[in-house]
Amino acid sequence: MKQAFNQRISSALNQRKQAGLNRSRRVVSQGNQATLVVDGKSYLNFSGNDYLGLASSKELMEAWQEGLSLYGSGSGASPLVTGYSKPHANLESQLAEWLGFDCAILFNSGFSANQAVLFSLLEKGDIVLQDKLNHASLMEAGMLSPAVMKRFKHNNIEHLNNLLNRSSDTPTLVVTEGVFSMDGDLSPLADIAQLTKANDAWLMVDDAHGCGVLGSNGRGCCDVYSITPDILIVTFGKGFGLSGAAVLCNQECGDYLSQFARHHVYSTAMPPAQAHALSHALLMIQQQEWRREKLNELSQQFESELMNFVGAVKTPTPIKPIIIGEATDAMILADSLKEQGLWTTAIRPPTVPVGSARIRVTLSANHSSEDISALTQAINELG
Ligand SMILES: Cc1ncc(COP(=O)(O)O)c(C=O)c1O
Repeated sequence: MKQAFNQRISSALNQRKQAGLNRSRRVVSQGNQATLVVDGKSYLNFSGNDYLGLASSKELMEAWQEGLSLYGSGSGASPLVTGYSKPHANLESQLAEWLGFDCAILFNSGFSANQAVLFSLLEKGDIVLQDKLNHASLMEAGMLSPAVMKRFKHNNIEHLNNLLNRSSDTPTLVVTEGVFSMDGDLSPLADIAQLTKANDAWLMVDDAHGCGVLGSNGRGCCDVYSITPDILIVTFGKGFGLSGAAVLCNQECGDYLSQFARHHVYSTAMPPAQAHALSHALLMIQQQEWRREKLNELSQQFESELMNFVGAVKTPTPIKPIIIGEATDAMILADSLKEQGLWTTAIRPPTVPVGSARIRVTLSANHSSEDISALTQAINELG
């Protein structure tokens, strides 16, 4: 019987390799900078999510070091035991005030925050409606939850409306991302918020890629559309340059999550020094508008230099997909770019639908105009 696991593992690995979908982990140094190094060779890095360039900022490192000297290394326990300290409480109240919610509850990752909310909120007989392109953490939690999960076509209000009409009196949660991570487009949040309200449903927005980057002061997609969802997820591994996440909601929902969200209750709280550093990252996001301005300039440059490249998609975000089609072709382009010292990632099924393999270029405020030109010139020539 023990053999069954070995067989399962080797057959899954073989299938993945044969389909050309195998991924490999590379040992990367300086992956949080504009130039990364792999096997001694340096590459311009167009693959990270450090949009504002905070991950390697000296100012932020110093804040973390200050946190370490004030609070030590680890939190020592989960939040309901002794792991919840002043820097955690400060960060939660700063986030809540900034984003206009009663409260924030911290998690160690966006993945766990998403799963915790869906698992603790949904019961048998409920309906969860998710955009087809939502992140794996949301899809998986929706599928494994006791609720009935349905997907609506990407950003398709009409389809969502049909599904909402059919759910009538059933408790219904609509879940969408603010910025879609593989496409870089925005969800039509104003329409979705209106629809969910009209149908007495709840709206949850995962703004992992929008918070810090979009909206006034970097408040994210909900600010862009002037909406307040019932639940907002912000993550700290992208615009904030660190890691972790928070769920923003009303006080009672926050009380509920701090009792029943298992990823919060039964998991060691993030190091207090990290919470201290995150409060500083929040300050930098609020005060250093130049980072968003620079990102916008680089974004415009990138799009105008790739204007004639078939497959290059214009987006209002620093995520710039170049749709190639077949997974092997996307790999060939990514490899050719690597040969020229340009690190991009080929995104292939199952992360994106079959036939829409792509190069996902991401821009950072750490890039220079020359970096962008080096990439666009190489793409235009190879194309
Ligand atoms: C939309 C979205 N939500 C959640 C996550 C997970 O966040 P984390 O990396 O903090 O686990 C990601 C990460 O890629 C994401 O793109």
